[in-house]
Amino acid sequence: MKICTKHKDQPDALIEILHDTQHKFGYLSNAVLVEIADILNISRADIHGIVSFYDDFRREPQTGPCVKICRAEACQAVGGEALADHAKNTGVESHDVYCLGNCALGPAVMIDDKLHGRVDAQKLDALLKECT
Ligand code: FES
Repeated sequence: MKICTKHKDQPDALIEILHDTQHKFGYLSNAVLVEIADILNISRADIHGIVSFYDDFRREPQTGPCVKICRAEACQAVGGEALADHAKNTGVESHDVYCLGNCALGPAVMIDDKLHGRVDAQKLDALLKECT
């Protein structure tokens, strides 16, 4: 696998390899995890432990945009909870994250790889409409 080769087949680069692999394929299938484990000579259990620990790794293909809503304090203080409730109540599939590094412009949301600030319910709806 070229991605492992790029990282010199080093087990220490597992996280980077998983990110690069997910970026290429959209998610991490069982088959690709087995291949990575074999190449890096590490156990499948170790890989599954890493993949299940980090929310950023997906085991299934993504069906819509990847929405991450910041639930940390600075964003909570300016409407983050209401935004998360709106997302939940309107069926938006989102992931809770704890700080997107955009604290001064909360509530912060990341849609796919793009960061958005001062997001309220209306802005979230508009951003998601742009994705469809
Ligand atoms: S607290 Fe939300 S981006 Fe930092």
